[in-house]
Amino acid sequence: MKVAIADSARLFFAVWPSPEVQRALGALAAALRRECGGRAVPADNIHLTLAFLGGVERGRLPAIEALAGAVSAPRFDLSVTRVQYWAHNRIVWAGVERCPEALSGLAEALARALAEQGFRLERRPYVPHITLLRDARRAPASGAVPPVAWPVEQFALVESVPHGGARRYEVLRRWALAPGERL
Ligand code: 2AM
Repeated sequence: MKVAIADSARLFFAVWPSPEVQRALGALAAALRRECGGRAVPADNIHLTLAFLGGVERGRLPAIEALAGAVSAPRFDLSVTRVQYWAHNRIVWAGVERCPEALSGLAEALARALAEQGFRLERRPYVPHITLLRDARRAPASGAVPPVAWPVEQFALVESVPHGGARRYEVLRRWALAPGERL
């Protein structure tokens, strides 16, 4: 059955930064844009995707929220210290030196739960990347940037909404990660 546009939503799970972390990453995006060209992702859109669902019938939202609520994972700390350029899609993105086990575990747990519910996800290994520039003209000269500390205590279900030729991301719901030893 064909789903009417209004009945479907473009969804993804993400780690959503605090306003302070978004400001720091937004400043990094602005500095990189001066060096590499392209378009900086607006600070309030900056995030780290965990699992991308794509277009989903809104009627499936309760099932998606239920599976997310059943995922249990610990809090963790990210230290964003690297930037990289992907030539195939001309994005400049920020990332970490080493993906914390708690982050890959959270992404895998969501992917598993989504697959069990019949969602088809990418089969690529999870590469945590924070897109900062689109349509960049060149790679940054240095891959190292001053560290941005990002304590992660929750994850979110986000809708990507068309907005004047661009996209705005709306956090639909958040789930807390378990307190205790940070990994
Ligand atoms: P990108 O920044 O590398 O484009 C909203 O579009 C978020 O989902 C962005 O973080 C985007 O990554 C990611 N995304 C879009 N399409 C995707 C896909 N097919 N597979 C995985 N992530 C995707």
